[in-house]
Amino acid sequence: MPNISKINEIILPSATMEITAKARELKASGKPVIGFGAGEPDFPTPAYIVEDAKRAAENPIYHKYTPVNGLPSLREEIARTTEEYSGYKISPDSVLVTNGGKQAIITAFMSVLNREDEVIIPKPYWTTYPESVKIAGGKPVFLESDIASDFKITKEQLEDTKTSKTKVLVWTSPSNPTGVVYTPKEAKEIYEWAFSNDIWILSDELYEHFVYEGESTPSPATLDTNLDNTIIINGVSKAYSMTGWRVGWMIGNNEVINVAKKIQSHSVSNVSNISQAAAKSALEHGLEETLRMKKAFNRRRLLAINLLSKTKFISTNIPKGAFYIYPDVSEALGGEKIKGISSSYELCNWLIEEYHIAFVPGEAFGTPGSIRCSYALGDEDLEEGLSRLSHAFENL
Ligand SMILES: Cc1ncc(COP(=O)(O)O)c(C=O)c1O
Repeated sequence: MPNISKINEIILPSATMEITAKARELKASGKPVIGFGAGEPDFPTPAYIVEDAKRAAENPIYHKYTPVNGLPSLREEIARTTEEYSGYKISPDSVLVTNGGKQAIITAFMSVLNREDEVIIPKPYWTTYPESVKIAGGKPVFLESDIASDFKITKEQLEDTKTSKTKVLVWTSPSNPTGVVYTPKEAKEIYEWAFSNDIWILSDELYEHFVYEGESTPSPATLDTNLDNTIIINGVSKAYSMTGWRVGWMIGNNEVINVAKKIQSHSVSNVSNISQAAAKSALEHGLEETLRMKKAFNRRRLLAINLLSKTKFISTNIPKGAFYIYPDVSEALGGEKIKGISSSYELCNWLIEEYHIAFVPGEAFGTPGSIRCSYALGDEDLEEGLSRLSHAFENL
């Protein structure tokens, strides 16, 4: 048999998808599984979006390829809402519509990285960043943060990590997995550092609408209006509960978008025409449903913080955005506390098998010793699941 690519040796499968698949499997076999693993809203896609998608599916115009960079009408909506919600003006031609934010991220890396270029990724990171950097031929370089620093990095750390090969800084605020939101002052300091060092900022803004406390983080594009150093990643998955429709986008300057278009033209050609129609409908209808979800997430956030803060072995910060909490469970590990369990990975396996509660281990985000707890699930499940967690630890 001819051999396979060496990529196999350098990339890992998505651990969040792995835990979600395991939870789904156990649930299908009749186990009362409660999943804190999924990174998706538990709400259905709003009905008006589904209706518009049905209409598109019945219209032969939507049975064809679209332009590589996406339907012009969708890109116009993206430009309009970007200005309205994110506060910076772009042309529809600065947008490339992709199969979710995930494809936008890997396309962006492929568009700017040369072999061995370094990409600074703050830890804990969303699990896809380092793997997509590696697939694109770059080298991930990590920055540490911890619960004591509220999982925030500083300009000084960046300065210490920078080399002549540093090409991109990955920036996610609100963050997956920590829910951390940088203040405008903290963010601007980091943006200025990147601009003055001529480093790209890949700003992942998928959670921009889910900030519950304090000020939102401004996009770097509000300062870098020509997008000389900024590439934005966004999409409809989280804000409109549309994870399965697979529509995201990247926003960049002409040079970046032109190369990204070339890549897309030879890989997926375009995003499903009907999904693009659905995304356009989502943007046209405004944020009413998003704000309704946000209210529910905030209620669950406060409930989860309250329950977790009373749970043995758990210490947590106060996440201000996204829909994740990232508790430190290192106190539960090692020694004889839980028979033979010495890592958060083993702990998550034990919790799902014994208590049927699914969390993603910190190993997936580069920081073993923590677990990611998504609170995008119903209030009752949330309470029941976290009381099982508390039980698991109390009963040791
Ligand atoms: C930080 C972050 N960026 C991007 C994505 C990609 O989402 P999608 O590909 O569904 O748009 C996710 C999904 O979990 C995410 O958490």
